Amino acid sequence: MDLLIHRLAEIATPLGTTPRRGSELKEVCRSPGREVFCRDGKILFVGSAEDRRQRFGELPHATRLDGTGKTLVPGFVDCHTHLPWAGSREHELAARLAGKSYQEIAAAGGGILSTVAATRAASEEELAENVRSRLDRMLAHGTTTAEAKSGYGLSLPAELKQLRAIRRGADGHVVDVVATLLAAHEVPAERRGSAAERARFLDEICQEITPAAASEGLATFCDVFCEEGVFTVEESRRVLRAGIDHGLVPRLHADEFVDSGAAGLAAELGAASADHLVAVSEAGIEAMAAREVMAVMLPGVSFFLRKEGYAPARRLIGAGVALALATDCNPGSSHTESLPFIVWLGVFKLGLTIEECLTAITLNPACCLGLGEEIGSVEEGKRADLVLLDAPNLFNLAYHFGVNPVAAVVKGGEVVVG
Ligand code: NIG
Ligand code: FE
Repeated sequence: MDLLIHRLAEIATPLGTTPRRGSELKEVCRSPGREVFCRDGKILFVGSAEDRRQRFGELPHATRLDGTGKTLVPGFVDCHTHLPWAGSREHELAARLAGKSYQEIAAAGGGILSTVAATRAASEEELAENVRSRLDRMLAHGTTTAEAKSGYGLSLPAELKQLRAIRRGADGHVVDVVATLLAAHEVPAERRGSAAERARFLDEICQEITPAAASEGLATFCDVFCEEGVFTVEESRRVLRAGIDHGLVPRLHADEFVDSGAAGLAAELGAASADHLVAVSEAGIEAMAAREVMAVMLPGVSFFLRKEGYAPARRLIGAGVALALATDCNPGSSHTESLPFIVWLGVFKLGLTIEECLTAITLNPACCLGLGEEIGSVEEGKRADLVLLDAPNLFNLAYHFGVNPVAAVVKGGEVVVG
């Protein structure tokens, strides 16, 4: 099938197949008066109408997408989400609005463990249906590829059920999904009685859950919540090494509330990313820069938890780190599927430019997921995953906030939204 996207006000895209680090993050190519011609799911041509006519003729049979007054950007890539959960934590938001902190709510029996109870009680199909409806909302907001983590099962059967629900929910869905095993998200209630119980849970993760998830091909990445009061650096190292031994690529929830040296562990292991980083130390930043570990910023969490502090995005960029932005879509600390909303937080709370934000929701997260050769930019040879913004230029994406800026989504060369 042929698709011609024409009369565009602007195309805005990072270029290349590798992460944009430091000052490269803002190097976005913005060109007016270009067309994009897609064939067999890929971008075959980007250039002027004149050049297109010379090379391909009038294309009378191609489907046409009219870009008048609009901006074309790469399909968004959400590289950090927790999609397969059941239940709701609305009441926790009410408690936070009344002044309670996330940690206080967790200590009182809420938090991750309340979602674990609801998720364990749900069937695989119920979870898959939740994944589908969340993917639908992501797609409506421009996301064409997403990562999804387990982590609300915390036992062999429940973690595998979540991973199978990711696969089942993604099967046949337009959005491509990459799965992550996050069995070390929290210590479940039944393993909290003693140090020996806790040790047995870590054994279960390393010796049973990780090999089972890997041998069934249910996950590409492994992840751990390395944080004071959750898993220590030593425990996290053990869990991630078990993942590496079984062919899973490590990532970390790192230094979200306090600096526990998790960014340094990410560097030591050559992790694909360290995520959150609100409390990351200078040493952690330097280690990440030296080992080229991507920093994934999740500003929806600071926003939703009503915190003053946001991750030091500008210091990370200054140190030469590659940055991505993601929703962290989850029921407790960031209940949104919208990457445009995360872009507004990137601009207004992290101090990023709109060009930096664009790279951070397209090429860089694509590279984080190992997909930089295939997606993440509007370039000949890449898959035709594209978003047409209802905006006359890229900057308008920041300027017009609180609306859905997506006029159309193209996935694999087909118009799937709009
Ligand atoms: O990424 N930080 C840990 N995990 C999630 C929150 C999960 C929850 O509260 O349910 C996060 O923010
Ligand atoms: Fe998370």
